[in-house]
This record gives sequence, C-alpha cells and structure tokens, in this order.
Amino acid sequence: MSIRLAVLASGRGSNLQAILDAIAAGALDAEVVGVFSDKPAAPALRRVAEPLRWSRKAKDYPDRDAFDAELADAVAASRPDWIVCAGYMRILGDGFVQRFRGRLLNIHPSLLPKYRGLHTHARALAAGDVEHGASVHFVIPALDAGAVIAQAPVPMLAGDSAHSLAERVLQVEHPLLLAVLQMAADGRISEQAGDAVLDSHPLLIPLRLEFAII
Ligand code: GRF
Repeated sequence: MSIRLAVLASGRGSNLQAILDAIAAGALDAEVVGVFSDKPAAPALRRVAEPLRWSRKAKDYPDRDAFDAELADAVAASRPDWIVCAGYMRILGDGFVQRFRGRLLNIHPSLLPKYRGLHTHARALAAGDVEHGASVHFVIPALDAGAVIAQAPVPMLAGDSAHSLAERVLQVEHPLLLAVLQMAADGRISEQAGDAVLDSHPLLIPLRLEFAII
C-alpha cells in the first residue's frame, strides 16, 4: 500500500530528493505529504511544492517544547503514516517523540551504536576504523539510540577525509533509506518493546544491506 510520508529536513535534502525520485519512478509506494524544517531557507523545502512546505525559526519560540509542539501539530495535520528525519539537525524533544513513536525514523551517517551525534565521519577516521556507513533507526528520546532496522557499510580508503567519507556514505544512505521505507510501505517493520521487528521477528542485529559505490 502507499504510505504517507512526512519528512523533516534542515538542509540540502538529498535524502528527500532520493525519496521523491523513487516515488516518481514507481520504485517506492509512498507519497510525501509534507516537508518540515527548522530552517526556512533550507534547500530541502524547495524540492516540493509550496503547499507541502512548513518551516519556522526555532529562535521565534521560547523553548524546545514550544517549537516541537507546533511542529508536531503541523506534522499530525498532514496525516502521515511514517515520519522520516532526513538530515534534520535539531534534537526532537520527548513530547514530539512520544507522540509519533513507532513510526518515527532517522537516517544517521554511522554504523550505530558507533558515533551517535555529530561529526561521525571525523570520529570514524580518528578511531582508525576500517569500515563506516549509515543506519536507519527508530527514533526514541535518547539521541540516535533507537532500535536500528538496517545498516549499509562503506569501506574506509587510504587518504580519506571526512568530506570524502561523507560523500561515500551519502551514496549508501539513499538506497538504504529507500529500502527501509519500502519495507514500511509493505507493512513489514514495526517497533515493539524497544526492538525493531521485521516480518514479526525482532531483529537481534540490524539488517546489513550492501550497495554499490561509484
Ligand atoms: C546526511 O549525511 C544525513 O545522514 C544526515 O544529514 C546529512 C545530509 O542529509 N543526517 P540530506 O542531504 O540533507 O538528506
């Protein structure tokens, strides 16, 4: 069945564009019903028609809860089946998370639980890792700590910089996110008792999906 997707983005929106392209190509059974941003100038917003855009400046609100409450109402009004954080750079407060928990996903540029938070590529380089990658996980109140559904690895190459690594990871983020969203569209994934569940079986380890890197 086609699922209604609300997408939260703060910047470029390449993951959002991958979703839009897959939908247009008939490769993802979904519809983007809204794009929501904390950055009114975010290029991600320009990737959809104006009626689907919502953005507010966090600084116009007294605190995180006030911003999140208005964001949550706007997201709810779009009647989404799933909410996808795709390059959304603000921490979502507990109130927002609990309102949508179980259908709130995030794409994160690391092989979680490694490198929650920011600067994941530099941290992987500094640690001398031989493998890095991306993860799609359920969002819970703790940052980047929700059950991981699927991961895609990328090799670390000699001479890699944080930038070159970020570019390579982005190449697997897009197909990884699309694969998980199609599983959602097919009714195959859910969050139960804190676990990611696929085809009614709790995932003891995340799915590992391999994608070609140019
Ligand atoms: C991506 O690396 C994503 O994992 C991170 O934000 C970066 C930009 O994503 N959360 P996008 O190009 O805005 O989708």
